[in-house]
Amino acid sequence: MSRISPESIERVRQAADMVEVVSGHTELRRRGTRWLGLCPFHDERTPSFSVDPAEKLYYCFGCQAGGNIFTFLEEKEGLDFRDAVEQLADRYGVELEYDDTGGQGDERRRERERLLDLLSKTATFYARYLWDSREAGAARAYLEGRGLGREVLEEFGVGYAPSAWDRVLLSARRAGFTEAEMRAAGLGQQGRRGLYDRFRGRIMFPLRDARGRVLGFGARAMRANQQPKYVNSPEGPVYRKGRSLFGIDRARPHATKEGRVYVVEGYTDVLALHQAGFRNSVASMGTALTDEQVGELARLAREVVLAFDADASGQEAMLRAQAAAAGRGVSLKVARLPDDKDPCDLLAEAGPDSFKTIAGDAIPILEFQVTSVLERAQMHSAADKDRLVAQLAPVFGSVGPSVEREEQVRRVADRLDLGEKVLENLLQETRREVLTPAPRTRTVSPFERSERAFLATCVSSGESGRSSLARLSDDHLSSSTLRQARDWLLRHFDAPTAGLATEEPELARIVGEIVVRASSEPASEHALELAFLQLEQRRLEREIKTAAESGDFDRHRELSVERSQVITRLMGGEPSPSATDGRG
Ligand code: CTP
Ligand code: MN
Repeated sequence: MSRISPESIERVRQAADMVEVVSGHTELRRRGTRWLGLCPFHDERTPSFSVDPAEKLYYCFGCQAGGNIFTFLEEKEGLDFRDAVEQLADRYGVELEYDDTGGQGDERRRERERLLDLLSKTATFYARYLWDSREAGAARAYLEGRGLGREVLEEFGVGYAPSAWDRVLLSARRAGFTEAEMRAAGLGQQGRRGLYDRFRGRIMFPLRDARGRVLGFGARAMRANQQPKYVNSPEGPVYRKGRSLFGIDRARPHATKEGRVYVVEGYTDVLALHQAGFRNSVASMGTALTDEQVGELARLAREVVLAFDADASGQEAMLRAQAAAAGRGVSLKVARLPDDKDPCDLLAEAGPDSFKTIAGDAIPILEFQVTSVLERAQMHSAADKDRLVAQLAPVFGSVGPSVEREEQVRRVADRLDLGEKVLENLLQETRREVLTPAPRTRTVSPFERSERAFLATCVSSGESGRSSLARLSDDHLSSSTLRQARDWLLRHFDAPTAGLATEEPELARIVGEIVVRASSEPASEHALELAFLQLEQRRLEREIKTAAESGDFDRHRELSVERSQVITRLMGGEPSPSATDGRG
């Protein structure tokens, strides 16, 4: 692997703002030429942590932790040296040079640069098209109707994709880009008669990294009946979905300065918030926050405020965010939106002060979750109380010990008229029951095991996981409980554990196991496809056997051809078609 050149490292060191970086983890105050704060490496009440912004060094007089700006990131964010350098280079706009040993890394970087160039030119094209074309008139009117002014739309580079089939590809070709590059950039879609524009007749939101480079697009339908509502860039060499946060490039300096970042769901929400002066806002883009996104947010600010819809999928998203935030030292809060309004509509209707009030009333996520469970709970019988405990078990299970946790346990114990110890025990027992497999009384076949693993991968893969689930026929699954589990997951995809505790124990146990596994199952389109093909192979093998037994040789031949096609694909032959639109 190529090395970052020492000169580049030095340039990064010089460009980086040490106070800004450290302020993401502890509040600093100026003391002469130094900055002082509570040590982020140990617990203390009086500040003994000192930062020298010129030398980019830190030292704690309490615990003797010390180092430079790179070691700070290594220690606080678990990065290795190289990542620390690259992250700071990104953040402070330093181009890195690499000492190449092989030259191959160089090649790959050049390729990547070309794709970034293509994406940036395309974004410029879309943006111009929004303002200059007749065709985009309806889009301009729509955006205006949502209360978004030209200034903020231009700042974020919002654009419009022409409805023609090949406008972008033609100009890319004229600019010297190859079809392979257009595909790799996610701009071209392969059809029967060749490549065509992936985005057509849609409002285009460029997705940028922290350095402001365009990595992909989110494209919103404009015309009536245009499906799906959103088409997003596919994952590729530059765009990785689970990593990106819309608006991070504009929000970063404000979030670090204020020590707080707002996370909303949609593109328009971010635009409206920035326009109203809440510049420390980013969007998760509709999906549950990933571990990577939470890590990124934790790097931006110590306080992360979620302003999500409070529906079931929002709830599940919060649970996951809570689990991801635990242990990162982030304070996760929730701002309650009124009556399922999104921030964009709220700001348009009620003005900037409305959001200010809501943001001011943000409460810690644990308190929020407990409150919403208690609000919905009935407490007439012992069974009601058991149900409540079952609902709260995952909530309490995803946070470590803290004063805040104690407070909430006490609150619930009071409501249930139970001792805190008793409640703690119940919570633990229930959690074990709902979320971990009971000791196996019968052995699970390897087939069934891989089927469960596949379901877990579906759960962790968002929209494409949902469509993979839908592709599973009864013949893919070797037990009726797994079929039930598939049906349950399809119906409750966004919040698979809600309401589960009251279902049949066997189903609850399997779904519980699948959901727990999902959080550690890597979500990738590729893994998903491979796992699906394996199930497909096994289904075919079972059918081949039946055909042979019943002497149906035509069917046998047909199935064997199908099987060998599946095996070719498994071995990395031609890729199979799979749905990647929508949230995928
Ligand atoms: N989203 C997506 N794919 C979908 C649906 C939603 O990527 N199929 C993401 C988008 O980032 C979107 C966000 O989730 O901005 C919120 O979804 P939604 O509220 O449905 O979209 P909005 O853009 O807010 O549209 P609306 O004007 O209808 O509120
Ligand atoms: Mn919305």
